[in-house]
Amino acid sequence: MNKTAYLNGEYLPLAEAKVSVLDRGFLFGDGVYEVIPAYRGHLFRFDDHLRRLNNSLSNIRLVLHKTAEQWRTVLEPLLSTDRDQYIYLQITRGVAPTRDHAFPEHAEPTVFAMCSDIKPFTERETGVKAVTLDDSRWDLCHVKATTLLANILLRQQAVEQGAAEAILVKNDYVTEGAASNIFAVIDGVLKTPETSGEILPGITREVIIELAQKDQIPYQEAPISLAEIKHASEIWLTSSTREIIPVVELDGQRIGNGKPGPIWQNMNQLFQQYKQNVS
Ligand code: PDD
Repeated sequence: MNKTAYLNGEYLPLAEAKVSVLDRGFLFGDGVYEVIPAYRGHLFRFDDHLRRLNNSLSNIRLVLHKTAEQWRTVLEPLLSTDRDQYIYLQITRGVAPTRDHAFPEHAEPTVFAMCSDIKPFTERETGVKAVTLDDSRWDLCHVKATTLLANILLRQQAVEQGAAEAILVKNDYVTEGAASNIFAVIDGVLKTPETSGEILPGITREVIIELAQKDQIPYQEAPISLAEIKHASEIWLTSSTREIIPVVELDGQRIGNGKPGPIWQNMNQLFQQYKQNVS
């Protein structure tokens, strides 16, 4: 039987997983996380997710050493082999004796993981609406931190405007979505912003770049200006839970012919095939 949650060395039903109110994750959002898809029990691009996790941990100076094999031993009992799921893995700086912004002298990191079914994203075939909003986040967007208040407020603002995602803009250039990376087809070239402190280096983004390379789709990692994106023939949003979502309307203006474009059709097919081969 698969288990539903893991907390500090124990497997237990999700509703029974409890952490102290003095946990720094609860008090400060002092932690990092990963979202790792698993198709029929196989963790997708696991080494890449672990590399990003270790990078997030070292950026916030949280010391936790586990090998890939140790992580597999922790996470695999949560998976089912008969469906598509994702693991949410969170590590915080742990429980401190009092609330103090500076790091506690001694604290054991809290390690929590849960597993959920991936719900098919029904709008993938028709496309979604998006709006552009000012990127109000910090300089460490490459760290997958649990401190997500800015992202939450931006996504909520988009939803209240009838859109599925906020496309974030900093100094007239697009960075990424509130919880996704961005690609745009401009003059026939697939473009995505380069990795930097302004974006999360998405694993889905990495796979798409590899597939574009293999299939000889012209692509470029380069800045995308707000003016350019408004005239893109295709825009896509990418993430582990939603995969590749075409945007068919941006700020009330139609993108392309208002339907998912041909380069998306091709890439989505390549991505679905690639996923099937995960073992
Ligand atoms: N978020 N950028 C941001 C800000 C994100 O939150 C995410 C994913 C991505 C895409 O990364 P990846 O392809 O590795 O999922 C980019 C996850 C799904 C979340 O917070 O739930």
